[in-house]
Amino acid sequence: MATAPARPALPVISSEPVAGKRVLVRVDFNVPLDSSGRITDDTRIRAALETIEYLRRNDATVILMSHLGRPQGKVVAELSLRPVAEHLGELIGRPVMFVSDCVGDIAEAAVRDAQPGDVLLLENTRYHAADTRNDPDFARQLARLGDLFVNDAFGTAHREQGSTSGVARYLPSFAGFLLDREIAQLTHLVDAPNRPFVTIVGGLKVADKIGVLERLVERCDAILVGGAMAFTFLAAKGIHVGGSRVEDAAGQDLARRILASADDHRCTIMLPIDAIAAAAIDEQAQVLTCAVDAIPDDMMGLDIGPRTRELYAQRLREAHTVFWNGPMGVFECAPFAEGTRAVAHAVASCPGTTVVGGGDSVAAIQQFGLADRISHVSTGGGASLALLEGANLPGITAILASPQ
Ligand code: 3PG
Repeated sequence: MATAPARPALPVISSEPVAGKRVLVRVDFNVPLDSSGRITDDTRIRAALETIEYLRRNDATVILMSHLGRPQGKVVAELSLRPVAEHLGELIGRPVMFVSDCVGDIAEAAVRDAQPGDVLLLENTRYHAADTRNDPDFARQLARLGDLFVNDAFGTAHREQGSTSGVARYLPSFAGFLLDREIAQLTHLVDAPNRPFVTIVGGLKVADKIGVLERLVERCDAILVGGAMAFTFLAAKGIHVGGSRVEDAAGQDLARRILASADDHRCTIMLPIDAIAAAAIDEQAQVLTCAVDAIPDDMMGLDIGPRTRELYAQRLREAHTVFWNGPMGVFECAPFAEGTRAVAHAVASCPGTTVVGGGDSVAAIQQFGLADRISHVSTGGGASLALLEGANLPGITAILASPQ
C-alpha cells in the first residue's frame, strides 16, 4: 500500500534554549468582546497559556502579538487588545504590560526595558494595513523585537500576513505547544482515523466547505449534513424544500459533485428527513415540524427535525472517530437549537475520538457545557478546514523555511 510522504517535523519551542532571550510570540487573541469591551469567550487565551507559562518559567522575555477583528489598517478603539492584556494578567496571576503599538519606537522601548520572565502584549497588529499585506518592511520591524519567533496562533495559521508568516523570514522560528497540538490532532484525524469515521457538517453554503467536503468524502464512512446547506443538497437531489434557503445552480452543482464523489468512495451522505420550519427566525415564531418535502412555500427549514436527530445520533453512537464542523440549525434562537444540541450531546457521548472545529460548533459545544467531553476542541475555524483540506498553511510553511 502506498504511504503518504512524511511531513517535515515542525520544530517546537521546547527544542530551543530560551533563557535570557526575547521571544516574540504570535498568538490568536481574536476573541469575542461585548459592547463594554468584556471578553465573552476566553478559550483562545487559555489555549495559549501553556506556551506563555513555559517561556516565562524558562526566563524568556515574552512578547505577545495578535490581531483582533478586522480594523483594516486603522486604529479602532473597540478593537484594542488592552482588555485582553488585563484578562491575561488575571489568568497568569501577574501583570501583563500592554504596549500601545506593535512596531516602532514605543514597541522597541518597551521591549528594551523588559526583563526575563516579563510578559508584554503588543497592540492589535491589524491597526497596520502592512500586517494583512504581508509587507516585508513591517515584518522586519516586528522581527527587531525578538531573538526568536514562536507561532502559537493556529486560528490564523492559514493567513499569509506579516505577523504570522512574514516575520519568520527574519528570525529562527518555532511552533508553540498549541500550534503543535492542533496540527497533530487534525492531521491524525484525516491520515489515520479509527473507523467508522463520521463527519457532521453544517453551515450556510456548500461552497464555503467544498474543499474539505471533497477531501472528507474520500476518507469518511459517513457525512451527516445539517444547517442551511442541507437544503441545497436536498434541492440538488430534486426535492422541493418549500421556502427554505437554497443556493443557486452553481451551489447545487457543487452538492451534486459531492454526492457523486461520495458514491465513488462508498461514503454515505446522510441528509435530513424532517425539519423544524418557520416563516422567520424569531424566538416567538410559530414552528412546524414536518418532512423535508412538506415544508410550505411560505416557511423555511431552520433546524433538523426529531427523526433526523435520532438517525444522526444513532450513526454517531457507532462511530470511532468523529469530526464536527457547523451547526445543524439557527441554534442561537431557542426554537431552532434542538438539532445542534442533540448532535452536541451525541458527539460528547461518543466513546471514540471526537474533534470539533469551527467557530459556531465550538460556540455550541461551550454553550451546552460539553467542551470537557470532547477529545479536541480546535481553536481554528478557517485554519482547521484548510488543514483538513490538505492545504499548506502559510504559518507552518514559514516556520519550516525560517533561518534556524
Ligand atoms: C479567526 O477568528 O478565524 C482567526 O482569528 C482569523 O481571523 P481572520 O479571518 O480575520 O483572518
